[in-house]
Amino acid sequence: MAVLEQLTSQQAIDLENKYGAHNYHPLPVVLSRGEGVYVWDVEGKKYYDFLSAYSAVNQGHCHPRIVDAMVSQAQTLTLTSRAFYNDSLGHYEKFACEYFGFDKLLPMNTGAEAVETALKLCRKWAYEVKGIDENDAEIIVCENNFHGRTTTIISFSNDPVARKNFGPFTNGFIKIEYDNLVALEDALKNNSNVAGFLVEPIQGEAGVYVPSEGYLAKAKALCEAHNVLFIADEVQTGIARTGQLLAVNHENVKPDVLILGKALSGGAYPVSAVLADDAIMNVIQPGNHGSTFGGNPIAAKVAIAALEVVQDEKLAENAERLGQLFRSEINTYIESSKLVSLVRGKGLLNAIVINDDEESETAWNICMALRDNGLLAKPTHGNIIRFAPPLVMNEEQLLDCVSIIISTLKQFEN
Ligand SMILES: Cc1ncc(COP(=O)(O)O)c(C=O)c1O
Repeated sequence: MAVLEQLTSQQAIDLENKYGAHNYHPLPVVLSRGEGVYVWDVEGKKYYDFLSAYSAVNQGHCHPRIVDAMVSQAQTLTLTSRAFYNDSLGHYEKFACEYFGFDKLLPMNTGAEAVETALKLCRKWAYEVKGIDENDAEIIVCENNFHGRTTTIISFSNDPVARKNFGPFTNGFIKIEYDNLVALEDALKNNSNVAGFLVEPIQGEAGVYVPSEGYLAKAKALCEAHNVLFIADEVQTGIARTGQLLAVNHENVKPDVLILGKALSGGAYPVSAVLADDAIMNVIQPGNHGSTFGGNPIAAKVAIAALEVVQDEKLAENAERLGQLFRSEINTYIESSKLVSLVRGKGLLNAIVINDDEESETAWNICMALRDNGLLAKPTHGNIIRFAPPLVMNEEQLLDCVSIIISTLKQFEN
């Protein structure tokens, strides 16, 4: 067996640069271990993780219950494909359906795959239930969305970097302004070909944009009135991140189609899912959709454990409480800051906006200084830094992080 030599950070970075495609621009820190809210680099330096792998590690790094579930299933049965049944998937589907309040679940692996699944489900429902003529269905999406990076998904992105030279794109999408009910109503009005409205309850990648209060509930009501499916992409906002199990719960909205990923496994394994009731999900028949790994026994066991941890450790309540504290502490700092113009977010999905233009390096430089001071975060855009720690954080740790963040920001005030 090959023994991997222990690399220095620089050696690890050089290896990735030479042999890996350059499809990311990571902060230069090389992590080799994680536990709870902490990660360690290869030189042994300890950091607070304030990104949680883009909100996948809500349950904390290497949560023992999730790891145990994964290891024990890995020693028993890893993959059968869906050519055969396995004795874990049904348990998981029942558990997750009851947990989120839906009739059926379609298991996938990554967030983008789950979004693709939801789009296909919506189109098929449009033709077979709503009665739209074949190939005429349209799905409304929002400007500045982020739903992943497949060809269809980037077809309705307005991020030039994600799109440039990847065309031709998929048709059938109408883009409207986020948090704009008039635009939604206009798009729905006099267009009987609209099948669905795909929306992030908070736009995470765009910079943690929280829509106006009531937006989601009113958007859902508009969709209902026009017999259009309300599709919530909770890949980033779901699983307790925003202080409720789902971000739509803040407005008591039940989506017609729910998309989950990331923290569905606590970051231990790629697990995603689409949930819907029978009247929608039953349009999917054998051969219409699938994935070799979707619904594999490890994923099933890991997801059950990950969801149990969220409930048993009251992570939504913790996120709500610590989120309030975080924003209130940062707001106090902002009162006398020239550098930071605002903090926004819900639960433990937050961002600060730096008083600088989008192209500036300030947010990146602040993240580098945060790294040096023992806390890892990443800009979402040139002047926005997202703060999303694991939800297993306690108050003392949060206040410690706040003091690291504020003292680091002060280095940049002038
Ligand atoms: C809202 C949302 N949808 C979908 C995705 C895509 O998930 P994945 O990277 O697992 O494909 C992301 C990833 O950040 C996301 O934030």
